[in-house]
Order: sequence, then structure tokens, then C-alpha cells
Amino acid sequence: MFLSEDVVIYFRGGVPHLLHVSNKMEYEITDVALLESLLQYAKDPLWRDEHCEPLLEAGVLHDKEPDSALKCFDNPLTDFFHQANQDLLLAISNLSKKEFAQVYLDKQASEPLPPLPPLLSMQDFTPDTIFHLPSPELGQLDTVSFLHVLRSRHAVREFTPHSTSLQDLSSLLFCVFGGFHRTEDEQECAPFFRRTSASAGALQCVQAYIVAFSVQDLEAGVYYYDGLNHVLCKQGIAPSHTELAKMLSGQFFAENCSFGIFLVVDVQRFFMEIHHCEEL
Ligand SMILES: Cc1cc2nc3c(=O)[nH]c(=O)nc-3n(C[C@H](O)[C@H](O)[C@H](O)COP(=O)(O)O)c2cc1C
Repeated sequence: MFLSEDVVIYFRGGVPHLLHVSNKMEYEITDVALLESLLQYAKDPLWRDEHCEPLLEAGVLHDKEPDSALKCFDNPLTDFFHQANQDLLLAISNLSKKEFAQVYLDKQASEPLPPLPPLLSMQDFTPDTIFHLPSPELGQLDTVSFLHVLRSRHAVREFTPHSTSLQDLSSLLFCVFGGFHRTEDEQECAPFFRRTSASAGALQCVQAYIVAFSVQDLEAGVYYYDGLNHVLCKQGIAPSHTELAKMLSGQFFAENCSFGIFLVVDVQRFFMEIHHCEEL
């Protein structure tokens, strides 16, 4: 709940906290009367009592409208996140290159990053669920011009009962999510690997899950794609096309598609990126 442009009340484990983003300070609220008063203030910024008066005088609460430069997204939470980063960026933007690097190194030395959460891999699945994809066939890509690709791209919402070859699925997954750049000497991203698309902090928090309906030589089902090993790991049976439409908020036109790729964010990994930012 927002109290002012940079102060919120939030609950963690049922305990109320006051978070001041600009000052990077967090307080546990132990006084119930103060909490009640702050909740009143959140509803009505003209609310005054003995609890919020001192906070107003100290500038923790203030009535002024958020700076329009920080009100970018028409969504208070996104604005808030933006502002938190803005403060961070302002704090480091005036540093020289050397000072910038020193701040980072000092932080790393004093508070080393917690171990990175491991990427889900085929080792997490039983051998009978692993499906080895054929090697990708990239030769055809060499014969198509980039201009042709740009001209051809468009959204499709109509599928005749349709089947895809395993080879095409393999090549597609490899190009978009696989170890495309992986070579023996490329250790820069270890324990991760470089994909054809960039990923913040090389954390690759977006993972691909495949719902296969009609792919030649592949049992229908839901699979996790392990890009490093180029294998599909079966997680369950495929939904019906009707169930799929429900999952797509009633968008029935996915009917008859031969497979779908669902991008899933690994939230634990995503928060590692925020941790990276905080390190600065
Ligand atoms: C993030 C994103 C989400 C989308 N979601 C849907 C969707 O739920 N249903 C749909 O029919 N099209 C969806 N689209 C496709 C867009 O509607 C489509 O790209 C747009 O109409 C422009 O058409 P074009 O891709 O042929 O240029 C989505 C596109 C993006 C980038």
C-alpha cells in the first residue's frame, strides 16, 4: 500500500513493514496504533493525527504528487520499481569508471553473491522421461536471407490439422533456446551458456516448455527443454486443445496447432538479477 511516492507499507510473514525506497530503509511496524494511522493516511492523504504528523514533518510522508518523470507506466507498482532503480542509478551515475568498479568490487568482497540456483536439467528427470532430439539442421537457414525472414514474419491464428517434423522442432528449439554459441573454450557464462537471445545477468530466467500435440515421432505431452543437452524432459500428458484454449483465456484458435512453446519465468532466478542490481 502506497503512502507517498517512495514509501510503502507491505506485509512479510504477516508482519507490517514500512519501506522507504529512496533512503533504502526498511522498518518493522510494531505499534498497532501507528499502523492504523498510516492505513488511514494511505486512504486519505489529508488525514492528520499524532502518529503521522511527525512523519510528515520529517518528510517521510508527503502530499506532493509523484514527479511526473517517475510516473511512467500508469501502474503504481511498476512506477515504484522504476523509482527504486532510478535512485540506484543516480547514486552511481556520477562515479568515474574506476570508482564504479571499486564500488562493485568492494560490495562483492563484503557481501559475496549467494550461490546461483541451478538451471533445471535432464539430471533432474528420470531416464525414461528423457527424449534426445536429433541434431539441429542449420544448413537451410544459410539459404534464407534476413530480408526474406523480416518480410515473412507475421502472426498466425489458423492451423489446419497440422504436424511438424521432429527435425524442425529440434532446429527451432536449438536456435532459440539451445546452446547455439556453445563451444569448448567458451566458459565466460559458465555455469550457464550463451543463447542466441540476450539474458539479463546471463541468468536465463526464461525457460521453454513444449506442449506437443502432433510432432512426428514424438509422443504427445508436456516437456521441459534442456537446451544445454538438447533434450526434451517429459513432465506430463498434453492437455486437450479445448483445455489449451481455456489456458489461453478462451482463445480457441490455437486449435489444431501441432505444438506450443510456453515461456516460463524462473522467479528464483529472476530475483537473482535484482540481487545483482542491489550489489551495486
Ligand atoms: C507479447 C505478445 C503477446 C501476444 N499475445 C497474443 C495473444 O494472446 N493472442 C493472439 O492472438 N496474438 C497475440 N500476440 C500477437 C499479436 O497480436 C500480433 O503480433 C499483432 O497483432 C501484430 O500482428 P503481426 O505479428 O502479424 O505483425 C502477441 C504478441 C506479443 C508480442
